[in-house]
Amino acid sequence: MKDKVVLVTGAATGIGRAIAEEFCIKGCTVVVNDISKENIQRVEKEFTKRGYRTYGLMADVTIEQQIKDMINNINDHFGRLDILVNNAGVTAKPKYIEEITLAEWESIIRTNLTGLFLCCKYSIPIFKRQRSGKIINIASLSGKIGATQSSVVSGNGKAHYAASKAGVINFTKALARELSPFGVNVNAVAPGPVLTDLIIRQYDGKVNEEALASNIPLKRLGTAGDVASTVLFLASEGAGYITGHILDVNGGLYMD
Ligand SMILES: NC(=O)c1ccc[n+]([C@@H]2O[C@H](COP(=O)([O-])OP(=O)(O)OC[C@H]3O[C@@H](n4cnc5c(N)ncnc54)[C@H](O)[C@@H]3O)[C@@H](O)[C@H]2O)c1
Repeated sequence: MKDKVVLVTGAATGIGRAIAEEFCIKGCTVVVNDISKENIQRVEKEFTKRGYRTYGLMADVTIEQQIKDMINNINDHFGRLDILVNNAGVTAKPKYIEEITLAEWESIIRTNLTGLFLCCKYSIPIFKRQRSGKIINIASLSGKIGATQSSVVSGNGKAHYAASKAGVINFTKALARELSPFGVNVNAVAPGPVLTDLIIRQYDGKVNEEALASNIPLKRLGTAGDVASTVLFLASEGAGYITGHILDVNGGLYMD
């Protein structure tokens, strides 16, 4: 893993930040992407203090030209890209489908699915040229079961979020097939509930951890570190024969 060049999108907070840090600890050079310049600068400062090799790049994954420029910048600066982690994502409060506005629908699909497509599209030429690489997409349990854990209970399903993540899952499989002849592995991780800002915002800051954990067999919520260590495994040599796989990280909440 040492000296690999890694791009993690949405890496300024939560799961993305934990993934970026895990790769830094392994000796990689990590490009920390996010839409928030201020948060990138904060992470860069903290990581540099710890002696990590990081390179902050602000870009909105939904804007094609910004993604094109970001990938060109990485190619010009490092001459390669070994690992792409598509983590940037947004969620919304649970809503019944007839209450979801077109703007809300489009915003979720655009960030979670179109953004991921754009990051792959512009990175693929580098991976093909190298005839090696790893792409890891952050999907979600909701992309498998059509709802988040909380909305299963309440009955309103965050259908836009679930649809975007189901798209990520099938896109991962399609891409894995296309890139297999070039020695590139493409996999996804499907986390259950992980206590990050994304979840805290969803519950207006009042997360009842105990209630959320009560029907999880391992009796706790996931951590950003749980997801990060799984991503590291999929990026490792040991996972070299795994492609097109969607790895559940959910404490046993859902078993495929
Ligand atoms: N937290 C959970 O319970 C959970 C569960 C399953 C899947 N996920 C997925 O994990 C990923 C990370 O989520 P998190 O919980 O760490 O959320 P988070 O809100 O803490 O972090 C998301 C990051 O993505 C960035 N981002 C948002 N839109 C962006 C854009 N257009 N361009 C670039 N960056 C952008 C944000 O600024 C933020 O730093 C998401 O894809 C999310 O759907 C989270």
